[in-house]
Amino acid sequence: MNAPHTGLKQRSAAFDVERFRADFPILRARINGKPLVFLDNAASSQMPQPVMDRWIRYQTTQHANIHRAVHYLSETATAEYEGARRKLQAFVNAAEDREIIFTTGTTDAINLVAHGYGRKFIEPGDEIILTTLEHHSNIVPWQMVAEEKGAKIRVVPVNDRGELSMEEYGRLLNPRVKLVGMNHVSNALGTVNPVREMIAAAHRHGVPVLVDGAQAVPHMAVDVQALDCDFYCFSGHKMYGPTGIGVLYGKAALLEKMQPFKGGGDMILSVTFEKTTYNVIPHKFEAGTPPIAAAITLGAAVDYLTEVGVERAGAHETDLLDYATDQVNRLPGIRIIGTAENKAAVLSFTVDGVHPHDVGTLLNEEGIAIRTGHHCAQPVMKRFGIPATSRASFAFYNTMAEVDALVAGIKKVQKVFG
Ligand SMILES: Cc1ncc(COP(=O)(O)O)c(C=O)c1O
Repeated sequence: MNAPHTGLKQRSAAFDVERFRADFPILRARINGKPLVFLDNAASSQMPQPVMDRWIRYQTTQHANIHRAVHYLSETATAEYEGARRKLQAFVNAAEDREIIFTTGTTDAINLVAHGYGRKFIEPGDEIILTTLEHHSNIVPWQMVAEEKGAKIRVVPVNDRGELSMEEYGRLLNPRVKLVGMNHVSNALGTVNPVREMIAAAHRHGVPVLVDGAQAVPHMAVDVQALDCDFYCFSGHKMYGPTGIGVLYGKAALLEKMQPFKGGGDMILSVTFEKTTYNVIPHKFEAGTPPIAAAITLGAAVDYLTEVGVERAGAHETDLLDYATDQVNRLPGIRIIGTAENKAAVLSFTVDGVHPHDVGTLLNEEGIAIRTGHHCAQPVMKRFGIPATSRASFAFYNTMAEVDALVAGIKKVQKVFG
């Protein structure tokens, strides 16, 4: 933190932001007469032209329903869809392509596990461990299961920096625990959690772990085999792909034991009115016509992110975060929420005497897009005694000049309310 700007400039110079920015037509937009400064990437990132082009090429030359016909277009679409699955497999280093289930997003993936694993294996008196940092999508599905089954939710607390208490986590692990759910990176604070260590600790108690990786995959290389996680979930629209598509990675042995979440076409081997035999994984979990175009386009987003280099992207975003943290810290009346040692791409803050909604509204007048509110993480807001924050979140296409614009915008907000 607090590295001098000159040093950051040198480090970032190795990363050609302008070259990649040119691929994003929306970044040339003007909002309220000002150049768009898009700092709401944790909510949804923008899509580069080559990824959009893939969607168009699919629709114009390859579209048909998959897995069902012998005609050319259906076979082409099937090959492209299954090819996208293999791209996602390589992206997170899954051992087998059948461990990649296409879902509509992170929320859908977590619900699939809550239903398919939780409702089957969690019993009265069992416990589910979550963390204070969870997005509502990794809380509510487990509450539903817990309520139905008579199980209890236990929560790993955080310290004042927004880091999980490993001691408390160790104490919570006991023979009644049936699942641990945690995010890899907190969307509200940016904390990067020690997931590998936490997974190893859970496994020493024989407990499977679901990792919500929605905020991790755009910023760091993820290797599900090295992490040894049992489930890993993420969304396409936060990694430069389309909305309506996401991934559940699951270890094959677990996926095979789980019950399907949705019934319908394609997820069966045979159906009679007496009995249905389910298809093998991954198809058992992909009932009906899947989002074929979105899955193939997500494959193109993986290609694009791989070309940028996810680690180089992450390093540039760290430079942006360090510079922004340093600059914002120099302003009076600002409280940064989330000061973990290990952080990624998110700067959450409050401005004394100004409601976050007003901060967001005034920044919008300057063409600056940030997110204000509870970020679907009300428990963490409660932990810090606030209803909401203003959150700037970075992508690799953001620049130091955009951080300067943000800081100038905050100064203007303070002047208006001063
Ligand atoms: C950490 C985290 N988990 C889950 C989600 C939910 O993702 P989606 O709305 O794409 O299902 C988000 C979205 O902001 C997130 O940041």
